[in-house]
Amino acid sequence: MTLEKKDSGNSIRKMEFKNQTVFFKSSEHMSELEDESIDVVITSPPYNRGKTYSSDNGEIHDDKMEDAEYYSFLTTIWSECYRVAKKSAVFFLNIGDSAGDQGKSEKVAKSAENASWKRIQDIIWVKSFLGKGHYTPSGGNRRLNNLWEHIFLFAKKTKEYKIDPKAIGIPYTDKSNIGRYSDTDLRDPGNVWLIPYTKTTGASVKKGHEAPFPIGLPYKCIKMVPSAKTVLDPFGGTCSTLAACLKLGVKGYAYEKYPRVEVIKSRILEGKNFHEIEENLIPHLELSLNLINNLLSDTSIIIPVIKSKAEFNNFQILNEVLNNLNIDNSFKKRLEKRINHFRESLNKKKEQEIKFRQIKLDFES
Ligand SMILES: C[S@@+](CC[C@H](N)C(=O)[O-])C[C@H]1O[C@@H](n2cnc3c(N)ncnc32)[C@H](O)[C@@H]1O
Repeated sequence: MTLEKKDSGNSIRKMEFKNQTVFFKSSEHMSELEDESIDVVITSPPYNRGKTYSSDNGEIHDDKMEDAEYYSFLTTIWSECYRVAKKSAVFFLNIGDSAGDQGKSEKVAKSAENASWKRIQDIIWVKSFLGKGHYTPSGGNRRLNNLWEHIFLFAKKTKEYKIDPKAIGIPYTDKSNIGRYSDTDLRDPGNVWLIPYTKTTGASVKKGHEAPFPIGLPYKCIKMVPSAKTVLDPFGGTCSTLAACLKLGVKGYAYEKYPRVEVIKSRILEGKNFHEIEENLIPHLELSLNLINNLLSDTSIIIPVIKSKAEFNNFQILNEVLNNLNIDNSFKKRLEKRINHFRESLNKKKEQEIKFRQIKLDFES
């Protein structure tokens, strides 16, 4: 790690850590970054809701600006992001509405448009669903709790950017679609992402920051951009974005005016062991799995011979579900045998058809 000190005073201005760079200053002027040098911008700005973002030396961000000042502050920073973004760059802007300020996210999106960013699409980040993911009950008897936030996707030039949704794809349910829409078992995951929000502040868990997003959020965004080599987060916070950069082996830059250095270092390191988790929304999942595992270990269960392509597809789906549930017992092995057997017979049939067609051609000529 290298630390640079200010010309006057002791405060740290820059930190290099694990090939990631954090500038400890305001992102209103990112003179350290060259024009058109960044592939992906990802950030979550201060929400201007009176949160306490404070640094190691006790300096506090003013999170209660007048509205006009707040939006103009954001536009200044989005303009700097625009300057340093390559022509092919994309910008993921995460912001949620709280019960008390519905509609603010739209105004924040507008502040980015005012800085010339072109609005492409709205991705919904679901923080909690069916009991997965933390949220603090707050709705009372007037509103429901807010369990999702926006990730607005912008581009610098609408004709120059590219994303690859299949890079974060999910498997087909109906395997017969492989070959129809795609050569692989991956499809566009759509624009609703479930990334459960872990509890990061409060009595039992203290991360030292008010509002980090999960590492999975920047991870998905970066992974989806084929050209991503350089990434910028102008409101670094704990630097979750750089943790995702570390995991994906890309170069990340962050700006944070009110840094907590140790918190940032340990967050970046979290990226090393980060694994994307496919969430399973089954109540009592573990108990159910044990029961299924025990039941299926009974070797007297007979798996019928596969007779049709439709049955083959269904058995493949069952096999994949058991894979996802980490079930590996004798039932699973016998199921795979049946699937492989049918697959081989399909291949043989195909080979015979090709041979037959060849003979027919030879005969006709
Ligand atoms: C919502 S938090 C970002 C959280 C971050 N996504 C994470 O995962 O930790 C916004 C951050 O912006 C910082 N900030 C406020 N004003 C800033 C400025 N002018 N330049 C850079 N950072 C600033 C705040 O201190 C706060 O840490």
